[in-house]
Amino acid sequence: MAERPVLVFDSGIGGLTVLREARVLMPDRRFVYVADDAAFPYGAWDEPALHRHIITLFGQLLQAHDPEVSVIACNTASTLVIDALREAYPGRLFVGTVPAIKPAAERTRSGLVSVLATPGTVKRQYTRDLIREWAAKCHVRLVGSVGLAALAEAYIRDGFVDEDMVRAEIEPCFVERDGRRTDIVVLACTHYPFLVNRMRKTAPWPVDWIDPAEAIARRALSLLGRGEPEDRLANGPDPAIFTSGKADAAIRRVVQGFGLALRD
Ligand code: DGL
Repeated sequence: MAERPVLVFDSGIGGLTVLREARVLMPDRRFVYVADDAAFPYGAWDEPALHRHIITLFGQLLQAHDPEVSVIACNTASTLVIDALREAYPGRLFVGTVPAIKPAAERTRSGLVSVLATPGTVKRQYTRDLIREWAAKCHVRLVGSVGLAALAEAYIRDGFVDEDMVRAEIEPCFVERDGRRTDIVVLACTHYPFLVNRMRKTAPWPVDWIDPAEAIARRALSLLGRGEPEDRLANGPDPAIFTSGKADAAIRRVVQGFGLALRD
């Protein structure tokens, strides 16, 4: 019997940063990529409405694709609904993506850490609890960016991004205090790793940028059963579903570049 796929979910193309790591670790697996672009950006939604929306959408996705594991490759969604998804769909496996505050607190030498995320992720209780639990000894600055996820979408589609806009969005992450400086920036939105080279270029000083994609992929791998390796490409490229049904030629090119085929 064919293995059940791994479903990778995000509000847009950000989850592709997790999919590319997952593919490296699980080259024989089938994936289904779902971008809820009809609802992008999640960062701007109010919590109760987004909560209801994602729980309902997952009812449909689980039924349609019967995944072995669902990877919520979106901090904005995971910090809001990961527990509720597990409760609503018991027996289903979910891997969440939440701000990498613990590794940042372990790695920082200056004790100044910034978390760059959507406004939604920044205001979540889940994020505050992570800081209290793992980074009580650090000074953590939460930076909610209104525009970066959309800039990353535009960059991946069009291949161009205004570096001054990137500079302005990351600037609040850089803190100087008592002769110490921020040395870690947590990329707490899966869209942001697409812009990390631009961030490096426009940063006022060098820092470590933490991208949790590989850790998320490892977690998913650890939950999967050991099926017989399949010829993954025998059934053609893995499907990508964009909930708007309106993905254009640029998106088609992007998903093809990731070895996916747009399914209408
Ligand atoms: N990729 C999503 C995340 O990791 C956020 C983008 C959005 O605002 O929809 O938080």
